Amino acid sequence: MTIRLGLFDSGIGGFTVLKSLVERHGDVSCVYLGDLARVPYGSKTPKEIRLIASEVVHWLNKQDLTAVLVACNTTNSLALDVVEKFAEVPVFGLIDSAVEMIYEKRVGILATPGTVFSKAYSKKILEKRPGTFVVEQACPAFVPMIETGLVNNEEICMLAKKYLKPLIESQVESIILGCSHYPLLLPILRPLVPSHVRLIDPAIGMAKNLDKLLVNDKFVGVTMQNSLNTKFYVTSDPNGFAARAKHWLKIYPEVELISLRSKACVF
Ligand code: DGL
Repeated sequence: MTIRLGLFDSGIGGFTVLKSLVERHGDVSCVYLGDLARVPYGSKTPKEIRLIASEVVHWLNKQDLTAVLVACNTTNSLALDVVEKFAEVPVFGLIDSAVEMIYEKRVGILATPGTVFSKAYSKKILEKRPGTFVVEQACPAFVPMIETGLVNNEEICMLAKKYLKPLIESQVESIILGCSHYPLLLPILRPLVPSHVRLIDPAIGMAKNLDKLLVNDKFVGVTMQNSLNTKFYVTSDPNGFAARAKHWLKIYPEVELISLRSKACVF
């Protein structure tokens, strides 16, 4: 059976999921959808996220997939039930994957305002590990800055310090990067956090959760650069997206522009 995975995110956050997937499983065939027309998802209402999720899944259902990977925590927090209801194949999420990775008693979450509002992380952690102290911090400025490439400046460093402060003051022992864009900031975040605090990328757990589905016999040290088995689609700005893929993944893919509207437009 040919395995084909469908990943979706508002933009380039799913790159961190794709990277973990390729690092663990090699040359997996994937369809990647970046909903650039509507990034950022993190400041949208739950109703909007749920509507978008249903549009995305209806499109993914036409892509001949084996499984859907929700490479977006905001969708995972606010609309996982929508994705699961409409998807015609198994669905894998980031939040369950992240929760399986923690063992500390004091846990911090960095996430989008939508994810923090949903309390999805706190609820899941307390369900699995009652008694855990959880503190969540919304980081509204990160995704717009990452998407526009503003990641190497003083401003993002100042913001990172501000967002991390309540977590560090709460003496957390691990911090979940609860937005798939945030692992792209690891070089900035790591030096700002005490060395004993683990920074957790949920994508690593998600890649592990796919072990049963993906047989590792094709894995021969494949890297992103020699794995071109992913087809990229966006709802806006294909050239900008390709440039970002070049920067973050060191590939320059063909990117196709699509519409998620269920009915074809008549021009
Ligand atoms: N990367 C997504 C997430 O994990 C969406 C971020 C956004 O568009 O605000 O939440």
